Amino acid sequence: MVRETRLSPTDFIYPLFVVEGRDVRRPISSMPGIFNLSVEHAVQEAKLAKSLGVPSVILFGIPDHKDAEGTQAYARDGIVQRAIREIKAAVPDLQVIADVCLCEYTDHGHCGVLDGQHVVNDATLPLLAQMAVTCAQAGADIVAPSDMMDGRIGAIRKALDEVKLSDTPIMAYSAKYASGFYGPFREAAQSTPQFGDRRGYQMDPGNVREALRETELDVEEGADFIMVKPALSYLDVIRALRERFDLPLAAYNVSGEYAMLKAAGQNGWVDYERVMMEVLTSIKRAGADLVITYHALEAAKLL
Ligand code: PBG
Repeated sequence: MVRETRLSPTDFIYPLFVVEGRDVRRPISSMPGIFNLSVEHAVQEAKLAKSLGVPSVILFGIPDHKDAEGTQAYARDGIVQRAIREIKAAVPDLQVIADVCLCEYTDHGHCGVLDGQHVVNDATLPLLAQMAVTCAQAGADIVAPSDMMDGRIGAIRKALDEVKLSDTPIMAYSAKYASGFYGPFREAAQSTPQFGDRRGYQMDPGNVREALRETELDVEEGADFIMVKPALSYLDVIRALRERFDLPLAAYNVSGEYAMLKAAGQNGWVDYERVMMEVLTSIKRAGADLVITYHALEAAKLL
């Protein structure tokens, strides 16, 4: 009766990793319960999400062919564009969010194009914009740039408007930290950088004022949602953004956070379901409206 924070399946966004081929449902060893899925299995998983009351999925494409410019990221019939089309056709009421970034599509694993070993911010922007446009044209309801290049929200907004997709909202990964908690994701997406790290474009874990500055820029450029990522070590950042901005705020409960709970649960060191609900509640209590989480289906079942 006096509880202040309540969870609902409608708070959740469920990530799906889509791969090429047919009849692929390959477990990701560091993320028990999560799979690399070929398109028809991704459609089944999307149906399941909807049937459990989860209103949204976010899609990551993992192409067979990777190259220096990440061309499969913005190919009209790329893996993620095909998955969007099939999922929207099968489950039209499900909100399909396209993660927009090059790192799953480049052979070097960085989120932008390179000059030597340097990621070139401005040369990356048109490619991200092209990816957002092809995903929206394939039927994505929302595009979510996760690359952290400066100026990408403005570039994407302009590109969408030019092709008359001004109604497609942008969910900006606005405060994304250079985090060790992405480890299992990089196994799932085969996107570990082949050299160096992402500290040149992702944020320093010691900074919170920078999160406000980064978010301010994204809002000025036209973001419709803002985001903090990861969630658990950054609950204070979620709170800070909640107090400063009035846009819908998402938090990404990332792969390493999921893996920790799974591992401890499987060892019998914690009560998995109990800590899962506690974690999700804490993210919402900190101020998030939406939680992107691999726990989405399990939590929705419990709720
Ligand atoms: C792509 C991207 C990453 C994640 C989401 N989008 C990986 C990264 O930045 O290395 C991580 C999500 C997770 O760990 O669950 N740039």
